[in-house]
Amino acid sequence: MRKKFIAGNWKMNLNRSDAVALAGGLASQLGTSDDVDVAVCPPSVYLDAVREAISGSQVALGAQNMYHEASGAFTGEISAGMLLDVGCKYVILGHSERRHILGETDAAINLKVVAALAAGLLPIVCVGETLEEREGGRTQSVVKGQVEGSLAGLTAAQMQQTVIAYEPVWAIGTGKVATPAQAEEVHADLRSLLETVYNSEVAAAVRIQYGGSVKPGNAAELLGQPNIDGALVGGASLQVDDFMGIIAGAKS
Ligand code: PGA
Repeated sequence: MRKKFIAGNWKMNLNRSDAVALAGGLASQLGTSDDVDVAVCPPSVYLDAVREAISGSQVALGAQNMYHEASGAFTGEISAGMLLDVGCKYVILGHSERRHILGETDAAINLKVVAALAAGLLPIVCVGETLEEREGGRTQSVVKGQVEGSLAGLTAAQMQQTVIAYEPVWAIGTGKVATPAQAEEVHADLRSLLETVYNSEVAAAVRIQYGGSVKPGNAAELLGQPNIDGALVGGASLQVDDFMGIIAGAKS
């Protein structure tokens, strides 16, 4: 049985005091209840402050990106070891905003995924098609290509530690959510791809989150689909009540 996993991607939002208040609010409302895994991914400059605010709670810390090298002359970049040092358990890699705005390729994402796992960070690897790709009937091939490229070379054990987030680009921050059936179709395809590339044990173990305009009002139905194991939440993760509402949807 896969444990549901709800992660908040705060993107480039909030200031230090708002980040600490949001994290503290979640930590106190969630308490020690651990029937759902929960993580928040603040901007990296606030990781340390947020770690303190969630300490002793069930909320885990994640980062939004990292670089694949361990250290050295890479101005502006942050390594997996640094993220671990500051208390991260997870790192989001290959988010569509990084793919489409910052130009990250599957090959670059793959280097990061391999480096994260080698260091002991659990990657949340994002894939998803654009509206044009969906309308052109290419959803399945695009998502398959992204999974094969960004997760290339992982062992079965590494694959089981990796979370996949299916985030249709047209649903991110747009208020347009994939229907539960649309999302479930892609999630089921992803799971059979894992069975083909690895085996049924790996396919059954890997958690596949849905992301794209998840809100308290649509969470329960999405999360009720057999192959949807959690959510990667942007906008609605910036308010304690909304994010708690989505966590409640994962429990129902
Ligand atoms: P959204 O973002 O929930 O605001 O659509 C999701 C994401 O980009 O992870």
